[in-house]
Amino acid sequence: MEIARENPSTVEHRMEIRMGLVIAVANQKGGVGKTTTSMNLAGAFQSEGYKVYVADADGQQSCMSWCAAAGPETPLPFRVGSINKLEKMIGPEIAALANDYDVVIVDCPPNINDLTTARVLAVADATVIPTDASPIDIWSSEGMMELVERTRVANPAGKFAILLNKSNSKTLLHTQMSAILAESNVRVLSSTVKQRELYRQAAALGRTVFDVKGVRGVKVAKDEIAAVYNEIIALVQEEEFVDGN
Ligand SMILES: Nc1ncnc2c1ncn2[C@@H]1O[C@H](COP(=O)(O)OP(=O)(O)OP(=O)(O)O)[C@@H](O)[C@H]1O
Ligand SMILES: [Mg+2]
Repeated sequence: MEIARENPSTVEHRMEIRMGLVIAVANQKGGVGKTTTSMNLAGAFQSEGYKVYVADADGQQSCMSWCAAAGPETPLPFRVGSINKLEKMIGPEIAALANDYDVVIVDCPPNINDLTTARVLAVADATVIPTDASPIDIWSSEGMMELVERTRVANPAGKFAILLNKSNSKTLLHTQMSAILAESNVRVLSSTVKQRELYRQAAALGRTVFDVKGVRGVKVAKDEIAAVYNEIIALVQEEEFVDGN
């Protein structure tokens, strides 16, 4: 199965997605790749010419640290800002950002006990749930799945998709996870992101795979993030189709 195309993003895609798109990246489990996914997706949207804002809703402020690692001389080509202390104003702030930016990507904290993640999901057009490579992670993500179900009631147009991150055995894992998730009605993206040292190296340099230099294996990583990007755009377009707008 083809998972990455030579030149996956096209002008067609660019023309079709609407402005002010809000994408949440969330999972109650820590260390699954929420921040890595947020930042590299931002790189993908930016490289297609979109005006992107990464909103850091996690108290750990990892996106902010990532941005700081880029340094003032070679800043990231998109804005990164903190929204983690806004409490119930977080939804209105995201809506305001969505007025000013084409795409707002919100990196959520690794817990669902405070209301931050619920508030973000309530205003997201699409929620990407990165999970690392084991069905056990899904079994331990029951709370996240319950939150998804609750969000569907509050935000019926919102879309949800699980992204298998740090995967090594795409086919088997994908089949297993899809089977486990079949009941829950949350789709699993067919694109996966492999475990690659490059993702750590890029983060350490404060870059995304779209603008990191001097490290090996960039193209294949870029292609796999671009494939995820394309699937997310397709997801959002589905939503627009269902809504009829
Ligand atoms: N596909 C990948 N390949 C290799 N390393 C990865 C990959 N994805 C993430 N990592 C690494 O795994 C660690 C955790 O990733 P990340 O910080 O993105 O997770 P997180 O879900 O945001 O964590 P937290 O819950 O603490 O916010 C980091 O060191 C990151 O560089
Ligand atoms: Mg994080």
